[in-house]
Amino acid sequence: MDATQTSNRSGEGAGHAGTIPVTITINGKQHRLEVEPWTSLLDLLRERLHLTGSKKGCDHGQCGACTVLVDDRRVNACLTLAVMKDGANVTTIEGLASDGQLDPLQDAFIEHDAFQCGYCTSGQICSGIGLLKEGKARTPAEIRELMSGNLCRCGAYVNIVAAVEQVLNYGADKQGEAGR
Ligand code: FES
Ligand code: FES
Repeated sequence: MDATQTSNRSGEGAGHAGTIPVTITINGKQHRLEVEPWTSLLDLLRERLHLTGSKKGCDHGQCGACTVLVDDRRVNACLTLAVMKDGANVTTIEGLASDGQLDPLQDAFIEHDAFQCGYCTSGQICSGIGLLKEGKARTPAEIRELMSGNLCRCGAYVNIVAAVEQVLNYGADKQGEAGR
């Protein structure tokens, strides 16, 4: 039997000519998939796995609507080939809450009214979480600069920066409390 005849045990897509097997953990669940070499991570998430929280805005790496975390680093899923992420851990907006609790940045977005239409929001939040993990931003100006790849057509930037800043400062407060 050749490789093109093997069936996919998880039912996530039968192999056929020209596809490549990949194993990717998405939001804590391992997926074994057969993908065409040109399939973007964004299309894999949205079209194959129906995780439609990550949005397709430009599909050219210019708007950030598709931002997800790959091994804790923020990436534009539209510019990322799924086959290049064999073995990776991907977190999408759907995977941020745990035990029924939103991520603190999701709470902060709600608190600061940091969205209008919501189209950019999942990308903004994933990008913000990546930014916070990077630990480079210290000021609102730095948050703006380091989030500049995430566009918001509604112009909610002021509130988005305020939400990220709140989590940045909350983290600092917690460290301060621990040191007291
Ligand atoms: S859809 Fe990926 S950057 Fe715009
Ligand atoms: S909230 Fe509408 S695009 Fe940002």
